[in-house]
Formats: sequence, C-alpha cells, structure tokens
Amino acid sequence: MDEREKQLEYIEKCRRLVSERSAAAGRPLTFCVTTFGCQMNARDSEKLCGILESIGFVSAGEEEADLVIFNTCSVRDNANQRVYGHLGRLKSIKRERPDMMVGICGCMMQEESAVKKVRESYSFVDIIFGTHNVYALAEILYERLIKDAPVVQVLPGTDKIVEQLPVDRKYPFKSGVNISFGCNNFCTYCIVPYVRGRERSRRPGDIIREVEALAKDGVIEVMLLGQNVNSYGNDFAEGSDESRVTFPALLKMVAQVPGIERVRFMTSHPKDLSDELIYVIAENEKICRHFHLPLQSGSSRLLKDMNRRYDKEHYLGLVKKLRDKVPGIAITTDIIVGYPGETDEDNEETLDVIRKAEFDNAFTFQYSKRTGTPAAAREDQISPEIVKERFDRVLALVQEMSAKRALTYEGRVMDALVEEENQKSPGFLTGRLSTNSSVHFKGDKELIGKLVKVRLLESRGFYYMGEIV
Ligand code: SAH
Ligand code: SF4
Ligand code: F3S
Repeated sequence: MDEREKQLEYIEKCRRLVSERSAAAGRPLTFCVTTFGCQMNARDSEKLCGILESIGFVSAGEEEADLVIFNTCSVRDNANQRVYGHLGRLKSIKRERPDMMVGICGCMMQEESAVKKVRESYSFVDIIFGTHNVYALAEILYERLIKDAPVVQVLPGTDKIVEQLPVDRKYPFKSGVNISFGCNNFCTYCIVPYVRGRERSRRPGDIIREVEALAKDGVIEVMLLGQNVNSYGNDFAEGSDESRVTFPALLKMVAQVPGIERVRFMTSHPKDLSDELIYVIAENEKICRHFHLPLQSGSSRLLKDMNRRYDKEHYLGLVKKLRDKVPGIAITTDIIVGYPGETDEDNEETLDVIRKAEFDNAFTFQYSKRTGTPAAAREDQISPEIVKERFDRVLALVQEMSAKRALTYEGRVMDALVEEENQKSPGFLTGRLSTNSSVHFKGDKELIGKLVKVRLLESRGFYYMGEIV
C-alpha cells in the first residue's frame, strides 16, 4: 500500500471515531488551524484543513474549536514568541474545556529545544509533529484519539513527497502550488535548511496535473512555491526526462494550462536567476509583473559572509536587466539589518542599493539570532540600539522609494483580481494587481474571483484607490 492509500485509510478510521463523538455531543466537532510564517506554511495549512474536513470536522474560531492546530514558523524569534503567546491563551481555555485538543506542527517543531519547551511548559498539548509529515495528520490524530495520551512524531528528514491528498483552499479562485520543498543554500543566518531539510523538487508531471485540476475547480491564479525556485529540478537525476524541465520551462508549461490566467512564483534567489527566466516572463503576459528578489544586504563583504554567492554589482545588474526587458515590472525584496559584524559602511551600501534599485516594496527585518546557524555563534553581534537606528533609516528610505515608484503607476488602467470585500469601507472591493499591489474600488461583491480592469486614481502608500473602467 502506498503512503497516500495508507493515509486515506487513517482518514476513514478517524471519521468513524469523530462521527461517534459528534453524535454524543449532538453537534459536529470543530477545528481551527492558525498559520504563522510564509506561503509554504500557508499551503501546508490548507493540506491540514483538507484532511480535517475529510475527517468530518467543521471550521470554527480558535477560542471555541474542539481541535486547534498551530502551524509554526521559526525564521525569526518574534515568530516563536507569537506562538507561545497563543499557547498561553489556550492554557486557561483548556482548563475550562478539557476535551479540547491542541496540536502544534511546522518549522518550530523541527527544533528539539522548542519541542522540549512545549512539552515542559505547555504539557496540555496533545499532538506534536513537524514539517516532514504534514501528510500524516490523520494517522497522528488517530493515535491520539485511541491512546488518550500525547503523541509526538517529528521526523528528522524525508525523501517522500505524498501526492493527491485532500486540500481545502482558502480562496476558491487562487492557490499556491509547491514546486520544491526544503533548501540547500545554508545562508549563514537562516534556520530554514535545518527545519525544512534538503531541497526536493516535485515531478513536473505532478505539478501540471495539480494545476490542471485546480483550473477545472475554478482557480485562475497560481503561485509556484519554493525556497529557491530558480534551482528547481537540480536534484533530478542527470539524463532523466524530468531533468530537462528547468524552472523557466516549468513556468511556461504552467502558464499554458487552459483556464489559468495568472502565474506568480516565490522565491527567487539572485545567484541563479537566468536570462532564460527573464525572457520567459517578458514573452508571457500571464506571468505576473512582479519579481521578489531578496537582497539581504547591499554590502558585498557581508553578502560573501552570509554565503549568498552574489555581490552588490551582480544584484544591481539583475535589477537593471529585469526593468529593461520587462517594462512595468515591480521589484520587491527582503533586507536584513544588523547582521553580525555589520558596520555603518555596510549599512550605507544597503541604502545605496535601495536608492539605485528603487524597490517597489521591501520587507525589512532586524537580524534575529537562530541557534544552530553559523551566524549565531559569532561574537560580533550588533547592539540592539545600533540595529534599531540603522533599521529606521533603511525603513524610511524603502518607504520613500516605494512611494516614488507607486506614483509612476497612477493613472494607468490595469487588471485586478478581485479578492474580497473591503473590511473597512462597505461597498468597496479589494483587488490585486499583477505587480502584487492592492487596489480598492467600488463594486459589487459578485465580482470576487474575477479579473476586472481598474484605473489607478491615487496611491496611498501600501495600496491604490481606483475605479472600474
Ligand atoms: N528562501 C528565501 C527566504 C525565506 S526566509 C530567500 O532566500 O530569499 C524570508 C526572509 O526572512 C529572508 O529573505 C530573510 O530576509 C529573512 N530572514 C531569514 N533569516 C533571518 C534571520 N535570522 N533574521 C532576520 N531575518 C531573517
Ligand atoms: Fe534561508 Fe538562504 Fe535558503 Fe532562503 S536561500 S531559505 S535565506 S538558507
Ligand atoms: Fe517560517 Fe518555516 Fe516559512 S521557518 S518562513 S514557516 S519555511
């Protein structure tokens, strides 16, 4: 029996137990999956939700659900702290409702120290699993239901990719699609390779089959997900059929799937961004005019130290090439401030790249020490006051540049995918542009899930105000 069939059997076994319990309670049992972290985690959560719904749970809020699962992130310490905050709040709820079950999974649980802390300080947690066995939720839950004791199942790694288990999408009209799992880059500050394991690419045939099924189910926008999409397929055996499918080739195949109107991808590492990729984007209108290209630092000295394997000039060359070959493309980035050993001159170099690249947007992070990574062991950590001061300067310049870029789009008519009703202003909808910015405009909620033409009237920092034309 393959892994998929085995898990479908566990779903069936759980279904029987859950239906007995809900008959006794006189109502369906409920679940809530709370996600921390990146799009990969969000996609994993959709898989968890798919499995739980197949078991017969229905969705509810975190405070009242019968089963609460936290899908955690450990990329920076504040992500960990947020999880502990949520766990703390559940502690008293669990005291009042001892039947409630609590699960924790995701990147934090791949760290022994975090598992230990949860087991000691939050001993009410019922199930713990990691990033490598998300597909096994039904099996783990089944064990918990019959054993009536906590279940801990964290795998050190995996070479398995389990296909075609149930998934419940957050949006009916758009979806993430994993193309690879894990990361081989070992940037010196980063925990991801340790908690997500080595890079494993999904077979092109499996990816296309999933995109086709999504399109048939009403999806018009897909986002291809990997920690480094540009190295997609590097792990395929040399000479094999699939080894011929590079990331640009895959992107083109996905854009050709009937029904798919838009394709995005995340994340692209500057060290192996090829001309072929830029060419494929330029040639394909369906590929969104947005490129997220994490810089981390503008200082070539620090980039070398971080093991990023590109320098300032190479990065600026890529930005120029993208802007020349794909007119109107929005370029966004990630920046870390306060990496060990960072000097004022290094920070100036980062500011210089922000000025020259004119990013449409940037996520700026204060360096966070991750135990087990090479950078954490260094003695030249930067004091929090200096980090804060540099961070504020970086942030101010990022905002200035992004406001400047946004002005260049004012007056244009662009396609927006209508995502939801605007929460704050009744009668207004929120749509996403190909450039990944959002736009608010008046419209009927019947338009949700559709592409509409919108004129951008005014930029307001993080979004535009517009009107349907
Ligand atoms: N694979 C992606 C990044 C995934 S993590 C890439 O290489 O581009 C998302 C972002 O978190 C990174 O780009 C980096 O800017 C930030 N980050 C990672 N580790 C960090 C740390 N220890 N402290 C602060 N920011 C960090
Ligand atoms: Fe982390 Fe670097 Fe891998 Fe991105 S490429 S996930 S920053 S190790
Ligand atoms: Fe966080 Fe894990 Fe993503 S550490 S950023 S959720 S891969």
